Amino acid sequence: MSLKKTIKKNILLEGKTKKVYSSENPFEVIIHYKDDITSLNGLKRNVIPDKGILNNEITTFIFNLLNNSGIKTHFIRKINNREQLCHKVNIYPLEFVVRNIVSGSLSKRLGMKEGMRISNPIFEIFYKNDNLKDPLINDHHAVFLQIISYKELSDIYKIISNINNVLKKYLFDKNIILVDFKMEFGKDKKNQILLSDEISPDTCRLWDKKTMKKLDKDQFRMGFKEEKIMDVYMEVLKRLNISSSN
Ligand code: TMP
Repeated sequence: MSLKKTIKKNILLEGKTKKVYSSENPFEVIIHYKDDITSLNGLKRNVIPDKGILNNEITTFIFNLLNNSGIKTHFIRKINNREQLCHKVNIYPLEFVVRNIVSGSLSKRLGMKEGMRISNPIFEIFYKNDNLKDPLINDHHAVFLQIISYKELSDIYKIISNINNVLKKYLFDKNIILVDFKMEFGKDKKNQILLSDEISPDTCRLWDKKTMKKLDKDQFRMGFKEEKIMDVYMEVLKRLNISSSN
């Protein structure tokens, strides 16, 4: 790991669970993981002490795994317990969801029982717009909104498919089923599309392979206490085999 000190400059934006700062390099940013946890588009919220530390560590592990698998991400390196150095990107205001098992909003939308296997993973896009409550849209809406081109969408779907294959297999070997997950993408200074944001139990549904226990933010959505939520996040971290010196 590089020992070069990274200097945090100005805050560029603050989201529900992270803050983004400029660094001394105009093409790199520092991402800080907070302890906040939210659901229902921010209507339900709480603070879980040290959750940000776990999500920073889990995302670091997963983005390293993806970088090593040839998938381009914004992640450069972990700086400390709560912070990562990342390439600066222009983020698309879209959330890309991949589903391997029926759950969550898909189960409600299609009136299907949770737990059904989806043989050909379903890709969905949601338009990030708080006023509209992040509606589900399709490719044509996204292009009409001038957010993205058909070519970029097609490139992202290929990347998403690779990410899903790498993560599904890696997690299955750790006795975790990757039910569904959300990704965000952006373009760097060279117009390269990079996976951005985070991949953690906040943004995935992860079920224990044997017991089907939920090891993710559904624990919060279901109203469980802080300790129980931390327990399952720590369980994910433990199974990923992360050493604290990562
Ligand atoms: P959904 O079933 O509620 O649509 O969620 C699908 C997946 O996307 C699930 O793993 C949780 C994740 N997700 C986020 O990370 N952020 C969000 O704002 C939403 C709606 C879902």
